[in-house]
Amino acid sequence: MSADDRVAIVTGGARGIGASTAERLASDGYTLSLWDIDDTVFEQVDHLQQAGHEVAGQLVDVTDPDAVETATAACLDRYGRLDALVNNAGIPGEGVPLWEQSVERWRHVIDVDLTGVFLCCRAVVPHLRTNGWGRVVNVASIAGKEGNANGSAYSAAKGGVIALTKSLGKELASDGILVNCVTPTLIDTPLVADIDDATLAPVIDRIPMGRAGQPHEVAELIAWLCSPACSYSTGAVFDLSGGRATF
Ligand code: NAI
Repeated sequence: MSADDRVAIVTGGARGIGASTAERLASDGYTLSLWDIDDTVFEQVDHLQQAGHEVAGQLVDVTDPDAVETATAACLDRYGRLDALVNNAGIPGEGVPLWEQSVERWRHVIDVDLTGVFLCCRAVVPHLRTNGWGRVVNVASIAGKEGNANGSAYSAAKGGVIALTKSLGKELASDGILVNCVTPTLIDTPLVADIDDATLAPVIDRIPMGRAGQPHEVAELIAWLCSPACSYSTGAVFDLSGGRATF
């Protein structure tokens, strides 16, 4: 099967890492379904269609099980198959110490950043199993390995994504479906655009390369993890931290 026959879903595809990943997968020949809660996803769809790619957009909240199931069915109706899922949609935490974290916000961050990954995998994986081939890539964070101070909900959710990746990777290891995650440090996307320089400076200081990563650098690794070239890695955690990660 050539990449031109393969279909991928990218969640959070409207902007940032998701938009870059969509561009990269499209240039590899993947047909795409981009899911987002933000209707600017259709601008990204237009942009890719104008470049000649086969892409559709869907408004989907990844925390809504019915919406995720409906969007999965719509994607299958339209393209007849599913081959890859990139769980990228995510939100940052509040930037407060745990004891000041509201219960409502804690639950929301866990819902989007962890339960959303579970719901999308739950809906899509049975179709990958039918294929006998598939790739799942979850976008976690170095916060899930290290734990960010003033980011307990986000760090816990991303740590959960790493563990989910390892569990699902083992469950599917003999089915031709590889499940991996990436753990970026600071990536230059709209998510970090609002953070002031004084807050960013100490974060950049901890990165041996001395700079934030670019979305296309994350997209490159995700594209490889979605390709047949990646064949002996599953349940694995791939660092994207400019040398910061020590494990
Ligand atoms: P971003 O904020 O630029 O893009 C995230 C996208 O997810 C947006 O289009 C947003 O509308 C969508 N989204 C949010 N909640 C959603 C929901 N409930 N359902 C569907 N879509 C939803 O963020 P960025 O930086 O591109 O981040 C992408 C992923 O990378 C996230 O999971 C984030 O946690 C992770 N990450 C980002 C890092 C960074 O420094 N930018 C570092 C480490 C991880």
